[in-house]
Amino acid sequence: MKISKAEMNDFRIRRKKILKHLGSSSLLILIASSEKERNNGINYSYRQNSNFHYLTGFNEPLSAVVFFKSEVHFFCRKKNKEYEQWNGKLIGPSMAKTIFEFNYAYDISKLEDKVKIFIRSANKVYLDYSDNDNFKYINNFIVRNLTGGKNRSLECIYDANLLISQYRQIKSSNEIKIIKKSCEIASLAHIAAMKKCKPGINEFDLENEICYTFGNYNARYNSYPPIVASGKNACILHYTSNNDIIKNNTIILIDAGCEYKMYASDITRSFPANGKFTSFQKDIYSLVLRAQSEALKKMKIGNFISEFHNTAVKVICDGLRDLKIIKKSSDEILEKKLYLKYYMHGTGHFLGLDVHDVGMYTINDKPIRLKKGMVITLEPGIYMNQKNIGIRIEDDILIDNNGPVVLTKDVPKSISKIEEICS
Ligand code: GLY
Ligand code: MN
Ligand code: MN
Repeated sequence: MKISKAEMNDFRIRRKKILKHLGSSSLLILIASSEKERNNGINYSYRQNSNFHYLTGFNEPLSAVVFFKSEVHFFCRKKNKEYEQWNGKLIGPSMAKTIFEFNYAYDISKLEDKVKIFIRSANKVYLDYSDNDNFKYINNFIVRNLTGGKNRSLECIYDANLLISQYRQIKSSNEIKIIKKSCEIASLAHIAAMKKCKPGINEFDLENEICYTFGNYNARYNSYPPIVASGKNACILHYTSNNDIIKNNTIILIDAGCEYKMYASDITRSFPANGKFTSFQKDIYSLVLRAQSEALKKMKIGNFISEFHNTAVKVICDGLRDLKIIKKSSDEILEKKLYLKYYMHGTGHFLGLDVHDVGMYTINDKPIRLKKGMVITLEPGIYMNQKNIGIRIEDDILIDNNGPVVLTKDVPKSISKIEEICS
């Protein structure tokens, strides 16, 4: 298990911030993701819980971490020769303490006894509600063990995910480096798929090309199941069957990103199967591209997070009127939300350890303002089922001092560049 200086430095800083927030009487407990069975004794590839990774860097199941009174207590499985013969090395508490710089490390079987002692002098307990199975287990355990009145259990349990997401929302310079790399790899994969595409092959052939390229550049996992959707399949927003023959004169929408060192990229490009946009496809594509480039201008420090979405929607409303797709005024299309028939999703989300990363978009019903170090996707689209066309253009944007930085700029999106690559 290798951990770089920059990564370790991030873990130290994060733990310090969390311990400071907890003060002397709050307790935070996080449990590692459990392994999940795929079928009959075979598990899915293991993926650590993002909050757990953010504060520990530890990548095994059956482990836990407790933050309490300025100290980090870590719990994992002890070394076990027979287990390791079948399943690979366990780090064990002693090595874990040294490598990951925990104050204390114990065998996981000690977790309940230790927590019982800690919670006697804790007023608040932070638990991760976002991981349901683990939350239920630890919540039941805490409730069983809390002393005092019947309702004290509910009053003193707080959401750890909300707490940690405040920090996860702003990326460190090392996180930005990793996300950039994730974006670069995904960009190469999209270019490879554009080059490979021709009418008559299967959507799945392009999925293969994408995943092969991810793997070639050390990104072994996807950050979500790729969407490779041709023609009207692109109007199904979460299409993942990716198993249709690609027809001539259709547009292919590929939404795919990789996971590199646990960090996601998330890119969508839409391009013609035969390398040449028809004039109608050009009209719709240009409109989505215009919505994206106008929205990008709003992704500046200090702007409300709602502004770039509102701008994209406004451009799309104007375009739907100009192209006579909706024969109403732009104001009416906007006010009566008639655009929703063609553009029915948000324009972006936070990106980080999770592809739909944590972070609040509103506080007390008011949109938050953009801050330096946020990474957000920008992904307007238009979907016209009756015309067999769905187009989305999605880039990953770093909010920075000198304006937005497009981390996925290497994948072409102008009509001329796309036609050049695809032909
Ligand atoms: N690929 C998931 C999304 O764009 O939100
Ligand atoms: Mn996205
Ligand atoms: Mn996407």
